[in-house]
Amino acid sequence: MTLLTALARAKTEEDVKDAYIAALGLKGYFKGLVDIQTEEVWFEAKDSPTAPIVMFGQLLVYIRAAKKRGEAIPAFLAVIDREKAALMPTEKALPLLDDKALVWPKSGSAAGKDFAAQIAPYVQTHIVEYEIAHDEAAFVRAVKDAIRERRIIRTPITPDNLRQVFDRWVAMIGSELGVKNQADYAVLFFADIMHDGQREAMKGPAGARLLFSGDKPVFILGTEQYELASERGYRNFWAIYHRPPEQQHRHYLLERRDSLLPVDEQKFKGAYYTPLNIVDKAYDQLRATLGENWQNRYIVWDMCAGVGNLEAKHSNLRNVFMSTLDQADVTIMKSNPAFAGAEIFQYDYLNDDITDFGEIDYALSGKLPTALRQAITNAREGRKGAKPILVLINPPYAEATNDNTTRGVASDGSGSKAKVAKTRLALSLKADYGKATNELFAQFVARIDLELPTSTLAMFSTLKYVISPTLEKFRETWKAKFLGGFVVHSRAFDSVPGNFPIAFLMWDTAVNVSVANIDTRVLNKEGKEVGEKTFIISTGRKLLTDWIIRPRSNREEVVPLKNALTTATATKDLRGTRWSDDAIAYMWCNSNDLQQAAKTALFSSGFNGGHGLFVTSENLWQAAIVFAVRRLIKPTWLNDRDQFLQPSEALTDEFKSDCLVWMLFNGSNLTAGADGLRWNERDWSLVNHFIPFTEGEVGVSGRFQSDFMVRYMAGMIFSAEARAVLDAGRVLWKRYHAISFPRKIREEFKLNRPDVGWYQVRRALEAYGDTELTDFDAFKAAYAALGTKLRPLVFEFGFLSQPLGSVS
Ligand SMILES: C[S@@+](CC[C@H](N)C(=O)[O-])C[C@H]1O[C@@H](n2cnc3c(N)ncnc32)[C@H](O)[C@@H]1O
Repeated sequence: MTLLTALARAKTEEDVKDAYIAALGLKGYFKGLVDIQTEEVWFEAKDSPTAPIVMFGQLLVYIRAAKKRGEAIPAFLAVIDREKAALMPTEKALPLLDDKALVWPKSGSAAGKDFAAQIAPYVQTHIVEYEIAHDEAAFVRAVKDAIRERRIIRTPITPDNLRQVFDRWVAMIGSELGVKNQADYAVLFFADIMHDGQREAMKGPAGARLLFSGDKPVFILGTEQYELASERGYRNFWAIYHRPPEQQHRHYLLERRDSLLPVDEQKFKGAYYTPLNIVDKAYDQLRATLGENWQNRYIVWDMCAGVGNLEAKHSNLRNVFMSTLDQADVTIMKSNPAFAGAEIFQYDYLNDDITDFGEIDYALSGKLPTALRQAITNAREGRKGAKPILVLINPPYAEATNDNTTRGVASDGSGSKAKVAKTRLALSLKADYGKATNELFAQFVARIDLELPTSTLAMFSTLKYVISPTLEKFRETWKAKFLGGFVVHSRAFDSVPGNFPIAFLMWDTAVNVSVANIDTRVLNKEGKEVGEKTFIISTGRKLLTDWIIRPRSNREEVVPLKNALTTATATKDLRGTRWSDDAIAYMWCNSNDLQQAAKTALFSSGFNGGHGLFVTSENLWQAAIVFAVRRLIKPTWLNDRDQFLQPSEALTDEFKSDCLVWMLFNGSNLTAGADGLRWNERDWSLVNHFIPFTEGEVGVSGRFQSDFMVRYMAGMIFSAEARAVLDAGRVLWKRYHAISFPRKIREEFKLNRPDVGWYQVRRALEAYGDTELTDFDAFKAAYAALGTKLRPLVFEFGFLSQPLGSVS
């Protein structure tokens, strides 16, 4: 099939991308933040026809970010839509990346027409456009040529990325050489990087040389000669990196060779420790944020270093201090040649050197190296020539509450919940930090704030300190300027249970500004970049939980339920035994974030766990919206800490009535009508106020005790989607009343009154499927269509901050 035909058949943007991928025969591509990414070409794709310059603008934002992080940049940029494609050599746009006159958008998706207008005068002339209807063959040939030529704008080798580059070299080239002694890798690596492919740019160290036999690289070391088992890695590597390094760095790099030994991943293994591929990403971020030569300019202190994973990608260990709690870890770090030059010592950061008054007195333990004490004083006092301090940490994560997992618990148990709040630091911490004293990682941040008030903080942790409403007090005290960062799926970390984002965020703690919304890059489990996300700081924004009127309970006793028709068995901490004036239901509605949104349901009596509110005719419209908003959006690892917010836009009547219907026919509408519920040695009845139909409409032979919902809905105007749900629902309700259910089903679902609820109707018909199947398809389709209509509105009305696109 031609590209033109495939595009004509494409229904979605994904189809458009796939049509191009097939036509160009792309291999080794990745779909992520950049729509299609290969080593040689990055593609931005659109479903509908879009001006190429706008799409190129978006790509340039990604290129600029990648360049800052020192990542490989492709030789070509391509933009594609269903009618046309365009190509541009990346190098033509490179001068723009450093142009201070340009106003760069914060994210690729924010690059629109304004940005396009800024860049057009510089790049428009270099763009080659192809109409697929006429130029399909020319475009395909041009891209294939670009790929075959493998022309890449290569990444330079510098003191800051030396360790990262060396590790890649060992994986891609060194491992193909059959070297017997691992220590030889470093000299062979230097022989390779100091050669420009034609001749030696500088003599390799310790007698190692690179020669070429024809095209074939041959390494000589002493009397040994090494050839590559496969040259694929060699070609790839040198398509990514530029050699030789710049003159100014060469001697410095050569001096560093003794510190280079291949990283033994085993040495860095341990529960909750940072995997090295993610450390690699953190170093990209550090380079992008702190700029060239940062490892020389900063003093680095990791005060919970474990066995040193975070420093495994550091090239200049001379400026590095690594301390940790366990002596056993200290011994491991000291025996690791990768850390030669670093100062390594045992130190309990949450207990050592803290006076009874919460001040720091290094004389107490005498453990802190003099050089570090001096560096701290110099930085604090802003002495001339003082090096700034970078705190680089992945602190232990344990919380002194009972509903959380503990992470990074030290072998002496210092991370156990009981001990969290009892560290010397926590005991002396001022009330200013609020609930932060319950959290080990927040205790680290609090001491850093006290001890190193001008430092830059680069920290792995959950996002709690940034977004959790329970740490609002902490944020009132801890102020810092956000510098950049990423979030990564927790599954990237071995043995971290659950699916949630772990953040690597950088902060300038010398700048006292309140933490505001933060823009991050998103990495998946493999550490690949798959999107961007803004985390909204709810401070100052009104939470949805405070939006709805909450009627008070009265003295009327009711039966506490644990499911639609099942009475409570718990006796301890039992809730849901009281009713409220004029209440028609109780809505369970626990916590205000997406992670807890599944804890949403409607009952015709009290709920035994509490954490909800009474529904009356007054607040029913809000209850329906809260119910729908909480249940419409599926929690993912990335959004499940997002807080529900009060609407930021005026709500339409259509949205309100759509939400009502969506709630009435949701599986968590557990309202019911039933007699004979046994609890506390009494029989109880449930009255159902949530039947949207009259007895006549559904052919019932008795009388509904309440016609509340029919009266409530009378006069409301329903959208076509809501009407379709009501119509399909009515068919099922009618069918229910036409069937004589066998005793087993009648008993199971307590079908002993006419006013059964949606839960009973649905479940009884499903159970009756053994005898005669009920066709739910029409209902399911109508209900799904209403959901599809409502989902984007959750974001448009501001109940949640941001849809997630294709991030998964
Ligand atoms: C999550 S691990 C991270 C280790 C390492 N930095 C990494 O990224 O792989 C946290 C480390 O903090 C150490 N730790 C726990 N409490 C500490 C304390 N009070 N002072 C110093 N280190 C502590 C633990 O022993 C553990 O090695």
